[in-house]
Amino acid sequence: MRGFPAPGPGLLPSRSSPSPRPVTGLLVLPGPPPLAYAESLNRFFIHPFTRAASPMTTPVESTPAAEPSKGYPAQARRTLSGIKPSGTPHLGNYLGFLRPALEMQATHQSFYFIADYHALTSVRDAPALRESTLDLAAVFHALGMDFDRHTFFRQSDVPEVTELAWILSCITPLGLLHQAHAYKDKTAKGEEINHGLFAYPVLMAADILIYDSTHVPVGKDQKQHLEITRDIAQRFNFLYGDTLVIPEPTIAEDVATVPGLDGRKMSKSYGNVIPLFGDPKQTRKTVMKIVTDSKGVEEPKDPDACNVFALYKHFARPEEQAHWAGRYKAGGMGYGEIKQALFDAMERELAAPRERYQAARQNTPLLEGILEKGAEKARKVAREVLGRVKQKVGLG
Ligand code: AMP
Ligand code: TRP
Repeated sequence: MRGFPAPGPGLLPSRSSPSPRPVTGLLVLPGPPPLAYAESLNRFFIHPFTRAASPMTTPVESTPAAEPSKGYPAQARRTLSGIKPSGTPHLGNYLGFLRPALEMQATHQSFYFIADYHALTSVRDAPALRESTLDLAAVFHALGMDFDRHTFFRQSDVPEVTELAWILSCITPLGLLHQAHAYKDKTAKGEEINHGLFAYPVLMAADILIYDSTHVPVGKDQKQHLEITRDIAQRFNFLYGDTLVIPEPTIAEDVATVPGLDGRKMSKSYGNVIPLFGDPKQTRKTVMKIVTDSKGVEEPKDPDACNVFALYKHFARPEEQAHWAGRYKAGGMGYGEIKQALFDAMERELAAPRERYQAARQNTPLLEGILEKGAEKARKVAREVLGRVKQKVGLG
């Protein structure tokens, strides 16, 4: 597997000829002009303002593919991201977030978490929330998260984050939140909005800022939230002096928006998802439902306009992609054939992690242990950063 941590027994199968998708393929989105403190961050990281060493600083090996591209020294890059436990993860989550984020373990000190506080904005079923939380812990385990060298935790195990969210909310202009798309979309549809949904980006800013994160790997749909985080952090630093690290969103360009069965963004709310670790027979049936145009078998076809190929290329080796692109263009290929090829390529990559997932999912003590250990590590950092913030604002 490209860039994944060296798989141990039972981890992701390695591809004999991996397609190149270097870490440098990450698009760092333009944000507001960096302030002087961001410059100092580039050089000192972790606690640029206190100059103190982080209790969590675990040196991360530098690999040739992981040359610091943004001026951060290798040990200074801390990647953080979260995913909501609100249903089964799908291929959009996997390609847009999980796979790139886990690859970044090779080059960044990584903090990944299950955003259960965020899920509460929509999930009303307590047992389902608990189950989905364990599902995600098993997913990270199955995909090769290194729980010893990196930090994986449940958001609500670090309640300090809600304290920071309150402090940040007191300096967040309402106008910033009125623009947020999740809130705007629901308002436009006339749906009921709760305050948690409105304040969602502030909690997300707290998630990111409380760990001095430098990079946040996410799908494109989170770009706006990241911009809001940067705005809030810059405002805090303007008001109180250099305190918070300004993070950069990192969005893998080629998977920024993974299409679903109908070609729209793959999303639970559109009902167009392919589950990541579904039953293979069912997954094959789902793959066969991907919408294509109605060209006959003999007609030449355009791979770049095809929803099947859009997914296939993320699982296939370069020579396989070239082969199938040729077959599209030549004519004589039915969509059933490429759908089968997609399913086979997915199985090649996902069958072994799926087995690992299933085994771990039945081992609740293992998953609880993973979360407990992660919470302890995460809290150490969170307390330190929150302490810095409280001192600045005059609390305590
Ligand atoms: P969520 O399931 O909304 O918590 O999303 C978790 C992560 O998956 C976020 O980083 C999203 O940006 C990413 N993601 C979700 N759906 C897609 C998609 N269709 N394409 C790319 N990334 C996605
Ligand atoms: N809002 C993200 C989503 O819906 C989940 C999330 C919560 C997150 N906090 C975060 C992502 C912090 C990155 C960083 O997918």
